[in-house]
Amino acid sequence: MPKIGLLTSGGDCQALNATMRGIVKTLMNSCSDPVEIFGFEDGYQGLIYGRYRTMEPMDFSGILTRGGTILGTSRTPFKLLDIPGQDGVQKVPAMKKTYNQLKLDCLFMLGGNGSTKTANRLSKEGLNIIALPKTIDNDTWGTDLTFGFTSAVEVATRCIDDIHTTASSHGRVFVIEIMGHKVGWIPLYAGIAGGADAILIPEIPYEMKNIVSTIERRMSLGARFTIIVVAEGAISKQEAGMSRKEYRRRLQERTSPSIVYDIAAEIEKTTGRETRVAIPGHTQRGGGPRRSGSHLRDPVRRRGGESLSQRQVRYHDSAAGWIYVSCIAR
Ligand code: F6P
Repeated sequence: MPKIGLLTSGGDCQALNATMRGIVKTLMNSCSDPVEIFGFEDGYQGLIYGRYRTMEPMDFSGILTRGGTILGTSRTPFKLLDIPGQDGVQKVPAMKKTYNQLKLDCLFMLGGNGSTKTANRLSKEGLNIIALPKTIDNDTWGTDLTFGFTSAVEVATRCIDDIHTTASSHGRVFVIEIMGHKVGWIPLYAGIAGGADAILIPEIPYEMKNIVSTIERRMSLGARFTIIVVAEGAISKQEAGMSRKEYRRRLQERTSPSIVYDIAAEIEKTTGRETRVAIPGHTQRGGGPRRSGSHLRDPVRRRGGESLSQRQVRYHDSAAGWIYVSCIAR
């Protein structure tokens, strides 16, 4: 009887349950033997400490539209993998031990970049792991579209749409913070869809004078409001020119909760326009998968599920030294 493990690692997103359901359903439909399923709790923590539940196929029924993850998740930073925690536990040997004790044929790991690096490390240690690319940020190496991304874009766009009406009624400038510390895919897509007048993303350092001139130009044309979409990790040209150390110090010295407040204050001071901040925050990861992302579940499900049932071995190393994995049961 094939034995598989499932875990969800890192920040959650909308389609984790839908993807696990897809994997299990495909295995049930394509494996002639029954499959034994172990669900690890709270990501790699469950694998490290042997916290798991044996699961039945019916545990995955009715969860297609449910957000979050039925297994729970946590962050286990890749860079700390070889550093024992406060309890002295060596993480990699502990994970290997759990995997081997359960005699797993394969572990399905739903995670983003850091979690996939850990999966790659475990793969090099001899574990069979399939990593499925999850994150609202859409920045997992080696994949064009991660599950979670389109749902997050939909939530963020909805937020911008809603702000549009109130900004228009009051004739205000709105600065909306959208998730994305390192990459700006969500603010870019949602900003375009929501008709933002300026979109600031980490990849393109901004200049305050351009934001101000955008607002003033709109005002001179008679526009009552302006919407500026700002990624969490947006950075000014001046900041981009700083050393890492200087930039870190600048962030430590920031007295406002985040960059949007500084930008809003600067806009109000320079233009004299009443300016407000809006932050959808973790709602961008909340709720169930939105319809626009549904098409993703199928390929992900088939890739994940079929690779086990067909017993393919598809593992490759990237030039970067780590990978988007696919690798399989003995
Ligand atoms: O990686 C997904 C993400 O939602 C990022 O967009 C965001 O910057 C970060 O996680 C927030 O992390 P946390 O949930 O730990 O506050």
